[in-house]
Amino acid sequence: MDLPRKQRTLWDGSYASNPEFFGSEPSDLAKSSISIFKQRGLKTVLELGCGQGRDTWHMVDAGLKVTALDYSETGICQMKKRAEDLGLDCRLEVHDALQALPFPDNHFDAVYSHMFFTMRFDMDQLQFMFKECLRVLRPGGIHVYSVRNYNDMHYGKFEPRGEDTWENPLGFVVHFFSEEKIRSLADGYDIVNIKEFIEGAPPFNKTLYEVVLAKP
Ligand SMILES: C[S@@+](CC[C@H](N)C(=O)[O-])C[C@H]1O[C@@H](n2cnc3c(N)ncnc32)[C@H](O)[C@@H]1O
Repeated sequence: MDLPRKQRTLWDGSYASNPEFFGSEPSDLAKSSISIFKQRGLKTVLELGCGQGRDTWHMVDAGLKVTALDYSETGICQMKKRAEDLGLDCRLEVHDALQALPFPDNHFDAVYSHMFFTMRFDMDQLQFMFKECLRVLRPGGIHVYSVRNYNDMHYGKFEPRGEDTWENPLGFVVHFFSEEKIRSLADGYDIVNIKEFIEGAPPFNKTLYEVVLAKP
């Protein structure tokens, strides 16, 4: 099986075997992003790579109007069931982010993703996705994302799979970012903030950058 298909299958299988693969609590990134969105009066959010929705539900609970996308049919199917059971108001779609986003220009107040761009994407693919996010974001809108960085304990470990990219023993391929790479991908945006944070406790901790960009 080719590597991109293998990644998708791995996510489907992981979500099928564990209904809370990343836990049931929202990430710290989701919490800090909600504060940023509220301070700026932002209401409509596009989330990329939502997984099983631990951050999606938190944003919906906070009163944001969320559209959440992931290419894992299993993840989106589980989320649709939960949204239906609990009467949650959000839009959930299976979508491969390497295809154009199915939304008009200037459509969302905010774009959000946690540990999505740090997947197996090369620079051309990342540049394409950042352009798409910029296109669907309205002027004055905010793009918040997280990626694993060079200080992460898995940086440079396991099987090399491209620039700054390694496949771990579970088969997941992770792209690690320098601050320089983040700056180069921010073409067309204003950089509001780049800061390091740690998710999880040893031995499962990840070291990430939180990145906040604004569309001029
Ligand atoms: C590390 S997980 C993070 C999930 C979620 N954001 C969280 O933190 O709980 C990355 C997610 O990106 C999704 N993903 C990877 N490549 C994708 C692509 N090309 N298009 C859409 N989703 C993708 C995976 O299915 C997975 O759910």
